[in-house]
Amino acid sequence: MKFIRNIWYATMWAQNLPAGRLATVTVTKEPLVLFRDADGKPVALMDRCPHRLVPLHLGKLCSDGQRIQCGYHGLEFDTSGRCTHNPHSETIPAAAKVRAFPAVERHSLIWVWMGEQPAREELIPDFSAFDEDNNSRVSRRESIELEVNYQLMTDNLLDLSHVSFLHDGVLGHSNMVRGDIRVEQEDDTLYVKRSTPNVAPPGMFDLMYRHDGKPVDAWADMRWNAPSCMLNNAGVCPVGGKRTDGVYILGAHILTPVSEFRTLYHFAAVRYDNNISRTPEEQNEVVEKLSSLRRIAFEEQDEPMVLAQQQAQVNAGGLGSLQPVLLNIDAGPVRARRMLDTMRLNADSSAATAP
Ligand code: FES
Ligand SMILES: [Fe+2]
Repeated sequence: MKFIRNIWYATMWAQNLPAGRLATVTVTKEPLVLFRDADGKPVALMDRCPHRLVPLHLGKLCSDGQRIQCGYHGLEFDTSGRCTHNPHSETIPAAAKVRAFPAVERHSLIWVWMGEQPAREELIPDFSAFDEDNNSRVSRRESIELEVNYQLMTDNLLDLSHVSFLHDGVLGHSNMVRGDIRVEQEDDTLYVKRSTPNVAPPGMFDLMYRHDGKPVDAWADMRWNAPSCMLNNAGVCPVGGKRTDGVYILGAHILTPVSEFRTLYHFAAVRYDNNISRTPEEQNEVVEKLSSLRRIAFEEQDEPMVLAQQQAQVNAGGLGSLQPVLLNIDAGPVRARRMLDTMRLNADSSAATAP
C-alpha cells in the first residue's frame, strides 16, 4: 500500500500532548515522537535514535524543553533533530541526526506533514468547529485505534446508508434506507450529501430533538479531504422546514493510517441544539448518551464489520484482490478513492521529474 506523503496527518488531540511529556504515534508506518518546545509549539521527530535505533520516546525531555535525550546512551537532539550533545566524546558524528517533521497545532489537533516537499499550512482541513474556545459545545475529543485499513473505514463513512442496518436504533432505522445521495466535488474537497425526508427521528436525534415523535427531514452531509479527514453535518428538522429550525451535529471523523491494517480514529462532535431548554440533568444525559452511542456505533458495530470485510479480502489474496459489486450508495467512496489515486499518480509523476 502506498501512502500519500505530502499531506497533513492528524496525529492526536492537542490535549493529549501536555508540556514536558513525550508522546509517540506511528503515522504511515513512520514512528514519531512528539513533544512541545519551550514556547509550547509541537515538535515531531522520527522516534528512532540513530545510534542503536531505539525509540527516543523511551528517553526524556531535557529541562530547557528544547532537547530530547536518548534513554540508552544519552545523545541529545534539538527540535530540528540535530544532535547537540554526545556525553561520551567531544565528537558528534555527522550521521547522528534525526528527521524532523513539520508539526502544527490547529483545531485542537496536532497535525504533522509527512512528506519531503515544503509543508503548506493552508492545506490543513477546516475543523474550526473543534477549536479550544468552543469547549462548551464540543463532546469529548476521543481517539481509538482500529485494526482496519483506513480506506475501508473511509468507505464506511462516505456511505452512510449503512446506518439503517448496522446502526439500527442507534444512528438510523429501517425507514431511512432510501435516501437521496448527491456527490459534489469542489477542488480537492468532496461532499457526499444524503437526505431522508419525512422519517421518524433516528435514535440519537430523537434524544436531542424534542419533536413529540413527529416525523422529520433527516440529513447527513459528509465532507472529505484527503486522505481521510471527514466532517459530518448530520441533523433533523421539521418536515419541509428549514434546517436551522432543527438540530444538528458536526462530527469530526479523522482517520490517520498507522500502517496498512491499523488506523487511528479521532472523533468528536459539536451539538447545535437550537436552544432547546433542558434541565442540567437532561443536558448531562444528552451529552453522555451522545458520547456512548457514538462509541458503541464505532467500536461495537463499524469496526467488527469492517474488520470482517478486511479479513475476507486478506483471505482471498489481499486488499484489492477482489472486485466488489458497486451500488448507487457507493458513489461517494468510489469518487474519494479516485481522487486519492489521482493524488498518488501526481505525486509519482512529480517525483519522476524532480531534478
Ligand atoms: S541508542 Fe540512543 S544514544 Fe545509544
Ligand atoms: Fe457506521
